[in-house]
Amino acid sequence: MAEFIPVGTFDIVIFGATGDLSERKLLPALFHRWLDGQIPGGSRIIGSARSEMTTAKFRAFAKAACKAGASSNWDAPAWEEFATLLDYVAMDATKPDAPWDELRGKLSGEKGWPCVFYLATAPRLYVAICEALGAANLSTQDARVVLEKPIGTNLASAKAINDGVGAIFAEDAVYRIDHYLGKETVQNLMVLRFGNALFEPVWSRAEVDHVQITVSEALGVEDRADYYDGSGALRDMVQNHILQLLCLTAMEPPGSMDASDVRTEKIKVLRALRRFTPSDAKDKTVRAQYTAGVVGGDAVPGYLEELSSDDPSRTETFVAIHAEIDNWRWAGVPFYLRTGKRMSERRSEIIIQFKPTPHSIFGETSSAANRLVIRLQPDEAVRLFVQIKEPGPGGLRIKSLPLDLSYAVNFTTRYPDAYERLLMDVVRGNLSLFMRRDEVEAAWEWVDGLLDAWGEADGAIETYPAGSNGPAAADFLLRKDDRAWWETSK
Ligand code: BG6
Repeated sequence: MAEFIPVGTFDIVIFGATGDLSERKLLPALFHRWLDGQIPGGSRIIGSARSEMTTAKFRAFAKAACKAGASSNWDAPAWEEFATLLDYVAMDATKPDAPWDELRGKLSGEKGWPCVFYLATAPRLYVAICEALGAANLSTQDARVVLEKPIGTNLASAKAINDGVGAIFAEDAVYRIDHYLGKETVQNLMVLRFGNALFEPVWSRAEVDHVQITVSEALGVEDRADYYDGSGALRDMVQNHILQLLCLTAMEPPGSMDASDVRTEKIKVLRALRRFTPSDAKDKTVRAQYTAGVVGGDAVPGYLEELSSDDPSRTETFVAIHAEIDNWRWAGVPFYLRTGKRMSERRSEIIIQFKPTPHSIFGETSSAANRLVIRLQPDEAVRLFVQIKEPGPGGLRIKSLPLDLSYAVNFTTRYPDAYERLLMDVVRGNLSLFMRRDEVEAAWEWVDGLLDAWGEADGAIETYPAGSNGPAAADFLLRKDDRAWWETSK
């Protein structure tokens, strides 16, 4: 049975409350925490957006959102109680002359109660909203501001956002969300590495041949084509989620789980990532766009057909990268990173491929090496492939089989959505799972280098049919190193 540690009474204001993130993630996450008895009754949840809307209408919007996100039977009485926490203020939060007094009047104003301002808006509005919060005297000691990704579109714009927000809020009041860090299995990565003495001695260039990180999605760009076409897979997925997974996989053991210890170790990894020259960018990365194909039995259009514009876009919906970390632990160990939309299936996985035994006494049959497969989603699991003797007569046959730690078999509790944990962490003031300013900037620095190298190299954009595992060039990226992507998903 899961235990929930209640948080103190708090206020949260969601700017962009009628948007997609609020509807799909934030409101359902808060309702789930309420259902589990984690949110105290006196807390207030205030939606704010430009649309004129009564509080009753906002509650109806939130109800529909929470019903759609409900993981079990709809609990009508619990909803009625939760709905009393909800309120709404229509305003353009970038304007100092917006009805800030009305918003303030809806906050408890209690000293010591956390007041969370969640900016679920376009990132270009972050600074203006923070400045308006400052002008309205709402950037108090108890205030915290939550910023969604992407923080900028390159290093310069990320710095401008960080500077603008930092002029109003101290760094320890700024919570930069990367929702991958709130996923159960991503946190388990730290437990696996640092809660077991077994792995640390083999977690380095001495025993690891290479690492693969795959985040494949079956979905396309859906209704986000405008945003996505200005972004692409590198900015949308690698700059944040995949680099965070790489950091947790490659970092040194932190001294403690304190935010500062964990974040300090992660940034060392980002700083040790090798920069790309134009010729490296050609040899060690692959960019591609999906063409029409079949995903899950349904015919789907290609990326270019989904865009409303007639200009042929060069935005990548798939990227594969052979990354290298220049430090003592990882020198010479390739980290193959791959992410794409409209691939054959939704699958996020980290593979630690160990080296083969130094000498085989069993001959050819024992050539497979140990492999640790960390399945982040779906079908969450950790599988350690070991060689065992296949029973029976007829010679010595060796098989590679997994020691299987499947979540579904071992746990029956519901896994909270990443946003549920992250929202409660903001209220608690726990910054461990949020990105520090220098982390975001170091990640952009590396990504900017690759974007520049791509620009100079002017390489081709490959294509791959929707429903496949990416372009042939991505397979070749590993084949030329005598390796292959791990595709056996179950
Ligand atoms: C978001 C990206 O940050 O993460 C989306 O902007 C992507 O493009 C999503 O689809 C993936 O998240 P998850 O939790 O579904 O793996």
